[in-house]
Amino acid sequence: MSSGLPKHIAIIMDGNGRWAERRGRPRIYGHIKGCGRVREIIREADRLGIKQLTLYAFSTENWGRPTAEVTVLMQLLKKWLIRERRELIKRNIRFRAIGNLERLPMDARKLVRESEELSAGNTGLELTFALSYSGRDEIIDAAKSLARRAMNGELLPEDINQEIFSMELDTVALRDPDLLIRTSGEQRISNFMLWQMAYTEFYFTDTMWPDFRAVNLRLAIDSYTRRERRFGLTSSKIEATI
Ligand code: IPE
Ligand code: IPE
Ligand code: MG
Repeated sequence: MSSGLPKHIAIIMDGNGRWAERRGRPRIYGHIKGCGRVREIIREADRLGIKQLTLYAFSTENWGRPTAEVTVLMQLLKKWLIRERRELIKRNIRFRAIGNLERLPMDARKLVRESEELSAGNTGLELTFALSYSGRDEIIDAAKSLARRAMNGELLPEDINQEIFSMELDTVALRDPDLLIRTSGEQRISNFMLWQMAYTEFYFTDTMWPDFRAVNLRLAIDSYTRRERRFGLTSSKIEATI
């Protein structure tokens, strides 16, 4: 049994810096080029009928990069939101952000919130940006919240299960990713959606993010559709449950 179209695709958009360095240009040039690819990939995902698309744009660890690079990344985020908001609305796309948004500069945070509110009623593609995101922090925050609720007598520790735990995560509105794509040849998940990726299919490509085009997305999806997801079962058991 092959898998159908992935409903939720998550992408680690990696390789901007190296892409630029190989051309003798500053890393920032790669980020600018990378930003340009985001629109194309969103459009293609939308056109293909993908329901949810989550883009890893900035990790908690990325705050440790040189200040000049971080500043440019925040400026690019703001510019992108200002430029693309109308397009998102036009395409009926619902925008969300996950991560520790408190750490974003105030104007960037405001734009993120406004974009979420503006598109809250949209019913098409659900687009999520992971910003200042850490999968481990997300899990710790969920644990803290459940501990607090247990202390307040709202729930018993014995009652905590996967479903209740998932509901405390930033991704409460999303299904677990069916397909993870990482560009740039690195084969790791760099603290991205650790809980949610328990049974996600991984697709790694050497293509750098600034070179990742609609056709590359289609190739990743083709690879996914040829796979059999077994979720710990056997092929015959899987077929019996469909
Ligand atoms: C991904 O590209 C963008 C961010 C992490 C913000 P990188 O900046 O990590 O590029 P490389 O991996 O150094 O080439
Ligand atoms: C992961 O890329 C984060 C984003 C793409 C936003 P990094 O470039 O930060 O990850 P490492 O350092 O190679 O693991
Ligand atoms: Mg990188």
